Amino acid sequence: MSSQRTAVVTGSASGMGAATAARLRAEGWRVVGIDLADADITADLGTPEGRAAALAGVGDALDGSLDALVTWAGLGGFPGRPGSLLASVNYFGTIALLEGLRPLLARGTEPSAVAIASNSMTCMPGVPLAVTEACLAGDEPAARAAADEAGSVTAYPATKLAVTRWCRMVAPGPDWAGAGIRLNVLAPGAVETPLLAATKADPVLGPLFEGFPVPIGRNGTAEELAGTVSFLLGPDARFLVGTVLVVDGGTEAQLRATDLPSPWTP
Ligand code: NAI
Repeated sequence: MSSQRTAVVTGSASGMGAATAARLRAEGWRVVGIDLADADITADLGTPEGRAAALAGVGDALDGSLDALVTWAGLGGFPGRPGSLLASVNYFGTIALLEGLRPLLARGTEPSAVAIASNSMTCMPGVPLAVTEACLAGDEPAARAAADEAGSVTAYPATKLAVTRWCRMVAPGPDWAGAGIRLNVLAPGAVETPLLAATKADPVLGPLFEGFPVPIGRNGTAEELAGTVSFLLGPDARFLVGTVLVVDGGTEAQLRATDLPSPWTP
């Protein structure tokens, strides 16, 4: 019997998802990619039907078990893009995959999942928490309405904060750590991908982005973040559970030096 490990990677057609799929394949993993196009499974994770199709496709492609899941699929916030789209793709699309594939992960070998957030959740001011709260309440219509009201630019960090909080709440519990599945969150900073290129090219966001500090002196590469995923899925991360790994060249450390971590004051 083959000992090849299997990973599902969403957002596998572009940017960091594509780099992750390539990195894992080079390491010998079997990768099942999910994206809107150019993927093993084409599905729109922004809709209930698309999420169901993605889960059914994974079920058909696998033998009843899965070793890793990485949820890169996501949309950036842009003027003119409805916030509701981000609530549905970034939060509900991500959680549907995590919840839907968890039973397969429970039967995997040293199983692990990495959910993707963003350092914008702690480095952008004015996060509309109503969006985060509606997401965490599992109320997609309310989350979509709140995100439309906020607009996608600020809804973006709110959806990523919701993903992070959901993961932190369930990761140590019986369904995840208790079932032997490590769930962690990766929060990238500015990384050179088509998404960031579009941000830089936007007449409104581009100039704002210029002021976003990256202390190491350059943006990250998709391959660097793929390397971080490889670490998170691998044996050197066996004790990491519910961790939020910020990989951003020092942005969060510079902007939030003494705010985070936040000490416990019962
Ligand atoms: P990208 O735009 O290059 O890739 C995102 C992929 O997600 C695309 O292939 C796209 O088709 C797919 N996707 C979008 N909507 C989908 C849907 N409804 N169903 C299925 N697939 C869908 O972006 P990038 O930069 O590689 O971003 C990947 C993730 O990392 C996103 O979640 C993003 O929010 C996050 N991120 C990106 C940062 C950056 O600086 N590039 C910084 C922090 C987080």
